[in-house]
Amino acid sequence: MHIENLKGRIALVTGAGQGMGRAVAEALSERGATVVINDVSAEAAQKVALDLNASGGTAIAVPADVSRGADVRRMVAQVVERFGAIHVLVNNAGVLRPTAVPEISEEEWDFILGVNLKGTFLCSQAVLPAMKAAQWGRIVNFSSTAGKNVSTVGGAHYTAAKAGVLGLTRHLAKEVARHGITVNAVCPGLIDTEMVRATISDERSQAYARGFPIPRLGRPGEVAELVAFLCSDRAAYITGASLDINGGDLMI
Ligand SMILES: NC(=O)c1ccc[n+]([C@@H]2O[C@H](COP(=O)([O-])OP(=O)(O)OC[C@H]3O[C@@H](n4cnc5c(N)ncnc54)[C@H](O)[C@@H]3O)[C@@H](O)[C@H]2O)c1
Repeated sequence: MHIENLKGRIALVTGAGQGMGRAVAEALSERGATVVINDVSAEAAQKVALDLNASGGTAIAVPADVSRGADVRRMVAQVVERFGAIHVLVNNAGVLRPTAVPEISEEEWDFILGVNLKGTFLCSQAVLPAMKAAQWGRIVNFSSTAGKNVSTVGGAHYTAAKAGVLGLTRHLAKEVARHGITVNAVCPGLIDTEMVRATISDERSQAYARGFPIPRLGRPGEVAELVAFLCSDRAAYITGASLDINGGDLMI
């Protein structure tokens, strides 16, 4: 039994084919929202939508690359046409590379900034007309501990992108507050997902985690709980905020 009720809300979660995006989609679905599962991988998005429908939820898959404006506009138009609204947007899609500055190519810089920062901008921009029409909206952006400090596993482009997400969050929050739309960021620390597993060894991530006040990696479901709260009516007075969820790794 959950306190927050998202029944009747239409939620779009980007990069929801796995990891924290999937966990967020599950948490919103459990609270009664209709969930649109976006991912650049059509297969992964489809699988999550099938699983949510099998558990009694309502979900559809809409594959798109969030770094491409035309893709994003097509995705949002499809959702609005089908459901008549978008109340919640979770900008979760992200990519990371562990490259040192001298080796970062222009293409890789554009790729990392394109998905993490430009994708967050494009999706937010595209959903605003629907949220303004409803005079209610929740946008939750995925930054990272990297956005406030320095990435543990990613390169400078990742750190820069996640810092950019925090600036975009604050600015947009100020612009749209009068329409009943809140915009917040979450800053996860080291969370046990494929992104981390594909980048560093288990031994290294465990070694990092032993140094945290809560000495373990975070779980995707723990981050999803925070995101689901920010999407609820109960979080109506929180906007422009960045919420840390990192086992105490960074306290600023
Ligand atoms: N795992 C961590 O420790 C950690 C920490 C802080 C922040 N984050 C951030 O949290 C978010 C989720 O990370 P995760 O660990 O679950 O990652 P993940 O790699 O497990 O999942 C990311 C998902 O995004 C999708 N995606 C990638 N590019 C896309 C695009 N262009 N368009 C649409 N979908 C795309 C991928 O296909 C994948 O399904 C990311 O923004 C990440 O940067 C992760």
